Amino acid sequence: MKYSVELCKITERKQLNNTTFDYTVSAPKISQIAACGQFANILAEGKFLRRPISICEIDKQAGALRFVFEVRGEGTKLISQKLIGEYLDIFAPLGNGFTPLKNAEKAVVVGGGIGVPPLLQTAKEYGGKAVAILGFANSERIILKEDFEAVCEKTVVATDDGSYGHHGFVTDPLSQLLADEKVDIIHACGPMPMLRNVSKIAAQYGVPCQVSLEERMGCGMGACLVCACKIKTADGTTYKHVCKDGPVFDSREVEF
Ligand SMILES: Cc1cc2nc3c(=O)[nH]c(=O)nc-3n(C[C@H](O)[C@H](O)[C@H](O)COP(=O)(O)OP(=O)(O)OC[C@H]3O[C@@H](n4cnc5c(N)ncnc54)[C@H](O)[C@@H]3O)c2cc1C
Ligand code: FES
Repeated sequence: MKYSVELCKITERKQLNNTTFDYTVSAPKISQIAACGQFANILAEGKFLRRPISICEIDKQAGALRFVFEVRGEGTKLISQKLIGEYLDIFAPLGNGFTPLKNAEKAVVVGGGIGVPPLLQTAKEYGGKAVAILGFANSERIILKEDFEAVCEKTVVATDDGSYGHHGFVTDPLSQLLADEKVDIIHACGPMPMLRNVSKIAAQYGVPCQVSLEERMGCGMGACLVCACKIKTADGTTYKHVCKDGPVFDSREVEF
């Protein structure tokens, strides 16, 4: 695995809603080796453990990376207080990301809430042949809609309370799409119940599906065993590291 530690200057900083931040940083080394679905371990100054945040967009030409994250606790709060011109200490790229399917005619990215960011770079890999299905609690939580619209063939938004787009879960428009059209692959990231149901639907239609799992992490590189997840094997189950073996797994392997 190739990774680097870089002090990355913040070049853009936006607040997308009351708890969500959108940063672009200059990362000349990491951007060259990063791939969609991988993550970065970002230092929250004064905290021993770095915080894992997915890589949302990679601009290899400009040597830049984009991160979109929600403030959940002290670590992400500290990171969100960094301003343009200041630096983030970033250890990345980590983990095995999504593997875009070569020659796919139609790919679908399915995201839920703060699971949506890593799917933006993934959708971009398909050069306009991806459909995005994005789910949020309500209209105020919607993020990155215009970004997906700019790079996808179609973007469908669902909200749990019906305040925008489809009223209900992402699984409804996903089932409809798979019933209507031939889809070559699904990439999904979001809460575990969403991933479980997306995986079931993918299996029902016989479409390969990759899911990105989220676990609490310590080291982020396979050394501390904090991030174990249950994976199916031919003769039962085993544990793998979400940080090193994942975060992306074939949905058929995951013991939901
Ligand atoms: C591979 C990976 C990629 C991630 N990508 C993103 C991203 O792109 N954007 C984003 O906003 N968040 C992402 N996260 C979640 C993010 O890492 C956590 O929200 C963050 O570490 C919380 O740190 P904190 O110090 O702010 O909160 P803490 O004080 O550590 O915890 C605050 C709350 O957040 C919950 N929490 C902490 N860590 C996690 C976790 N790993 N998963 C779920 N809940 C957690 C805790 O249970 C607690 O309720 C990702 C996590 C992983 C493992
Ligand atoms: S976070 Fe330490 S082994 Fe995965």
